[in-house]
Amino acid sequence: MTTWTPDSWRTKPISQVPAYPDPAALAEAERQLATFPPLVFAGEARDLKARLAAVARGEAFLLQGGDCAESFAEHGADHIRDFFRVFLQMAVVLTHGASKPVVKVGRVAGQFAKPRSADTETIDGVELPSYRGDIINDIGFTEKSRVPDPDRMLQAYRQSAATLNLLRAFSMGGYAELTRIHEWTVGFMKGSNWYPRYEEVARKIDDAITFMGALGLTPDNTPALRQTSFFTSHEALLLGYEEALTRRDSITNDWYATSGHMLWIGDRTRQPDAAHVEYFAGIKNPIGIKCGPTLSNDDLLRLLDRLNPTDEAGRITLIARFGSDKVHDHLPRLIETVQKAGRTVVWCSDPMHGNTIKASTGYKTRPFDRVLSEVKSFFEIHRELGTYAGGVHIEMTGDDVTECVGGVSAVTEASLSDRYHTYCDPRLNASQALELAFLVAEEVHAQKPPRQHLAAGE
Ligand code: PEP
Ligand code: CO
Repeated sequence: MTTWTPDSWRTKPISQVPAYPDPAALAEAERQLATFPPLVFAGEARDLKARLAAVARGEAFLLQGGDCAESFAEHGADHIRDFFRVFLQMAVVLTHGASKPVVKVGRVAGQFAKPRSADTETIDGVELPSYRGDIINDIGFTEKSRVPDPDRMLQAYRQSAATLNLLRAFSMGGYAELTRIHEWTVGFMKGSNWYPRYEEVARKIDDAITFMGALGLTPDNTPALRQTSFFTSHEALLLGYEEALTRRDSITNDWYATSGHMLWIGDRTRQPDAAHVEYFAGIKNPIGIKCGPTLSNDDLLRLLDRLNPTDEAGRITLIARFGSDKVHDHLPRLIETVQKAGRTVVWCSDPMHGNTIKASTGYKTRPFDRVLSEVKSFFEIHRELGTYAGGVHIEMTGDDVTECVGGVSAVTEASLSDRYHTYCDPRLNASQALELAFLVAEEVHAQKPPRQHLAAGE
């Protein structure tokens, strides 16, 4: 085997690669990026890995979510704040309901590159290259917009830095203080019928905080009440960008991706001998692997051997995204494969990507009941097999969009056009995201620790 380097992926077959017209301009953008500061530190990625190891043991739960694709146009403070507060609300509902720490990982501050099922898109007889995310080309349907532009990588980097800066301020600077739990509710959500349930949780937490205050534990002297730990993640699809931000950690001398804390490999780029897996093999961050219906048991084992040869806990999160009608056909065989091989992974459910349909009005949508149904099946299958359902991975926004049909907010096929703003896949709106959190909290609460952990621990 040849030695790994941040650019060794360049010798492997690669899919989903943009056709940049000017290789010199691409090389220049990558050269500049390589001189920029890292967005995250290795120590933070290690901290996240340790927390994910706790998830693998059944002691914590992973909440991962955010936009399908971030965009240059939607970069306002309000958009970031509204996402963050709904995410915090979900985390609080989960922590309270499940009585477990929740590991919070946003699809944010770097989620710009999109894999596409077709290289071109045809509208009214006009065929143009597909939109591949704002880090690559523009969503506008003109020939010029769709040309990949390497300078977009620099803009994505700067936007990621600014987003991360605000998120760090929110999580460490008082906004996430538990005494402010009532303030996280976005105005338009107050009419939802889950709202009284959220207020009830919030009231119980208020009581607990008052009680702790009487014992002398206050936000001033107890960081856990004042701050929260929040991590970033994205699909590492655009490897030239990732390579430029791959840096050696001065403490351990190991290589880390510094574009985000956790990176995942998409369902379309996880071929064991190809470029993306090569890149992931050499970075020490915690990583995710999207698992769709075409993932064979053998390929999963090959991926685990290649990406986690020492079976380090917290390194691998398997993100199951089969669809509500297929999850029973595929998840059990993959769980059994991992179990038989004695491998340590976090199992996480992405109930979005296998449940996309085209509405009669032409919009891509996801029926909320299918999303819920896949999550329920995910928990049920783990219960039957004695393994731990460790997390959920969702596409969501804090905005009042109409992209997924159903839920208490009662988005219908006819109302999809009202506020359909996504740059790629349909997202849960704030109300639907909260509704999902309540369901997941009940499921996590009812869950027992994984069997192998009980056996090993006693
Ligand atoms: C995504 O997470 O936006 C995505 C493209 O997922 P998948 O690779 O599972 O299709
Ligand atoms: Co998506």
